[in-house]
Amino acid sequence: MQRVLFLYYSHSGHTEKMILAAAEGVREGGAEAIVKKTTDAVRENLVNCDAVILGTGNYFQKEAGMFRDYWDRYDYDWLKMKKEIGIKPYAWVVSAGVGGDGCIATVDNLMKQLNFRRVFPTVVAFEDPTGDDLDNCRKLGRRMAELAPAADYTDIDPPKKSGRWKWPPKVRLMAWKGIGAEVAHAWGDPMAQDVGTKLVATSDENASICFKNVRAGRFHFTTGARVETSQMLMADGEYADRDGGPFPVCAVWAQSRNNAGFFVRGDSPIKDIYDIKPGTRIASLPGNPASRNMMEALLAWVKVNAEDIKWVEHKSYADTVQSVMAGRTDFAFAMPLSKVVIEAEKQPGGIRWLELDAEKDPEGARRFHEVDPLEGLGVMFTGVASCLGKWGIVGTHLVLAHRDTDKYLVYRMVRWLHQNFEQIKDRHSKLKWANLETLVAELKQTFLPVHEGLRQLLKEEGVWTNALEERSEANAALIDRYCEAYQECQDMADEKGIPVRHDSPEWVEMWESYKKEHSIPIVRPFEGL
Ligand SMILES: Cc1cc2nc3c(=O)[nH]c(=O)nc-3n(C[C@H](O)[C@H](O)[C@H](O)COP(=O)(O)O)c2cc1C
Repeated sequence: MQRVLFLYYSHSGHTEKMILAAAEGVREGGAEAIVKKTTDAVRENLVNCDAVILGTGNYFQKEAGMFRDYWDRYDYDWLKMKKEIGIKPYAWVVSAGVGGDGCIATVDNLMKQLNFRRVFPTVVAFEDPTGDDLDNCRKLGRRMAELAPAADYTDIDPPKKSGRWKWPPKVRLMAWKGIGAEVAHAWGDPMAQDVGTKLVATSDENASICFKNVRAGRFHFTTGARVETSQMLMADGEYADRDGGPFPVCAVWAQSRNNAGFFVRGDSPIKDIYDIKPGTRIASLPGNPASRNMMEALLAWVKVNAEDIKWVEHKSYADTVQSVMAGRTDFAFAMPLSKVVIEAEKQPGGIRWLELDAEKDPEGARRFHEVDPLEGLGVMFTGVASCLGKWGIVGTHLVLAHRDTDKYLVYRMVRWLHQNFEQIKDRHSKLKWANLETLVAELKQTFLPVHEGLRQLLKEEGVWTNALEERSEANAALIDRYCEAYQECQDMADEKGIPVRHDSPEWVEMWESYKKEHSIPIVRPFEGL
């Protein structure tokens, strides 16, 4: 933001102190602060600025008369000036004897009519502002200065020619079978009922099918964790089909958080990861390359060669857990919420988790991430009692959409989710993470761009920063590069008559070497912003 206009009136100086603190914050944030009492301001001030911070005291549940006078002076001219003013963000500071917000309603309403967008929670002080109040004003100023340029506020307006925007008759979401679909219904059903649409939530066991349907535009949304989303973008494994590779997918909201880890039987001589030695028997699942990758990352952590391990292959995830319990293998990767693990924990002696404590051993964790950059490490918080509080693999599931999904649909949906979080959060144990806080934490690390509709909400909530904007654009650019490369490589395969299918070794080889030859960076999360 370049120029932030302060418009205020203050009889005793209370509001003025708040305004001056916020102006300091604006300057700290690298923008210009233009501070005007309403009695000295002219209407051009609103035209020649990029954002506005308003301030008034509460007088008989209304704004100060001298504050309101500014708008009264220009009569109907305001509506003529709407175009000149454009779309800009604004925020409030208020000083009041007992309560704040009622006094801003009239001017707030006018600001909305003038196309201003209110972006941050109002800072309210009771009478003379305290040090904390002034800190909050300073913070408000800094956040306003760091907001992306005002021009971006124009892109989300609902289509005007076709009349008022309406929810489509059906919102279509495809999620993983089981918990993914359950969670989607838990937030989607009340939303659909409230806004007058119908939620169609279909599910499939295979994440690649979910992505394929969103890619083809048959569904608006799907959900995904880092591993399968990056596999899809890089067209790894079963994603390497003609209709299964990269497409411009964007982050829409946080759906849930999850955790997983490595476990041994309660009586195992392996007490922690450092007891893993050459000859240790690992229950592996060749059908799931992601779990093998995590195990190799674990071996890198403890500096054991994968060739020195006794890999015991299994056909299903349940088999791997049962083979540990039967003593045929020493440990396996497991999900603490799964039925087999719940059963395993009930057996005499129970189970124990091998902690991946990144704080105690940051060097080991670094070696882990060199092999598997996709998995986050953290303290487990959900699942069987034995895992709670132990370090494992933790991650966020996002709601995702194609970049071309109607931005206004995304905007309305995420606004509903944000505003109704209190109402939905107890409808499923996973939904307590379906909030702005979890979302923003993940956005600071994700390789996904932010959908335009979500971007609008993040701006209004005051959490959209230049750093997020830059990251999101860089993420989109890498995904575009993958999309173009995947298409070009398919064209080459077509010319040579090589079938583009994930079970065609020639095609897989061709795509893998194409990525290497063209030095396309791998899709991986970031440490932060
Ligand atoms: C005449 C008068 C009426 C007021 N009415 C209200 C009111 O209705 N509600 C309230 O919360 N505070 C009320 N206040 C308290 C003021 O909002 C408070 O003193 C505020 O700090 C004034 O800000 P200013 O000195 O920066 O203008 C009133 C104060 C005065 C002098």
